[in-house]
Amino acid sequence: MVKKIAILTSGGDAPGMNAAIRAVVRAGRINGLEVYGIRDGYRGLYEGGDNFQLMSRKSVTDIIARGGTILGSARLPEFKDPAYRQKGIENLKKLGIDCLIVIGGDGTYTGANALKKDGVNVIGLPGTIDNDIYGTDYTIGFDTCINTVVDAIDRLRDTCGSHERCAVVEVMGRYCGDVAKAAGLATGAEFVITSDTGLDLDYVLEKTKDYKLHSKRHPIIIVTEHITNVHELAKKIEDYSGFETRATVLGHIQRGGKPSTQDRILASRLGLAAVEYALAGKFGVCLGIVSNEIVSSNFEDVLGKKKHVFRNFEKSIEILS
Ligand code: F6P
Repeated sequence: MVKKIAILTSGGDAPGMNAAIRAVVRAGRINGLEVYGIRDGYRGLYEGGDNFQLMSRKSVTDIIARGGTILGSARLPEFKDPAYRQKGIENLKKLGIDCLIVIGGDGTYTGANALKKDGVNVIGLPGTIDNDIYGTDYTIGFDTCINTVVDAIDRLRDTCGSHERCAVVEVMGRYCGDVAKAAGLATGAEFVITSDTGLDLDYVLEKTKDYKLHSKRHPIIIVTEHITNVHELAKKIEDYSGFETRATVLGHIQRGGKPSTQDRILASRLGLAAVEYALAGKFGVCLGIVSNEIVSSNFEDVLGKKKHVFRNFEKSIEILS
């Protein structure tokens, strides 16, 4: 019988993490559970002490609309080391915590899977702007992120249109192209370069030259990070096509800001579901949303797998450009 649960946020923060924390705390408290918030992800779990705070209903008042995470987050590569995890497990035991809920992305799930194998009752929620978690159509933070990216690209379109320039825009997503693809379709970009398409430089150069010849005023090319140096790419495009070209790296702006309505709803539903799973003793799973239904998966079935929510978007983007 579960009496005490704990929650932490780990890895890159994502808008909506606070809404999920709020849901876990409120749903836990109404079911008579003690809910502990652990500061700064797995680092706080490892360090223990004041990093564990009992959370009241009031402690999560007014956080549903706030970006970031009130619990703080961190990346802790050392958590792969069993000795680090053991210290975290001892900290959970000291307080008699029966279940740990973690919110984060790939690295967080890898840590959670290791904790599960160490015998910890753990439940994972997908929180990352990258949308790169298998077993869920969407991750908490993705919707807010693409809204931010679309807003930024709309602004770039204004100025590029005025100056007849080409814009090369680098977006986040780690090795997943979902941010680029969703934003590409929503902004009417000319094309996107993602890990699925790779960079075909000749194609990019010929395409942009063609746009110039056919009097397109402001082509927009969206590139997922880690594929190429967008400043160098912009220079090559300018030299070859004759288009004045500017590169913009949107960077961490994409991770901040008030969570969108969709993210607040997703996070609230997942937080509530995590508590229901804990009360039912269904541990060792990560939750997600598929076709608008909450689903659960084993960490092993999710880690390292690639999903295709935005299948064929590259083609649609080019057809409509
Ligand atoms: O996973 C979220 C993310 O923002 C990625 O898109 C990006 O590659 C990475 O985190 C950046 O990490 P950091 O904030 O540690 O530089």
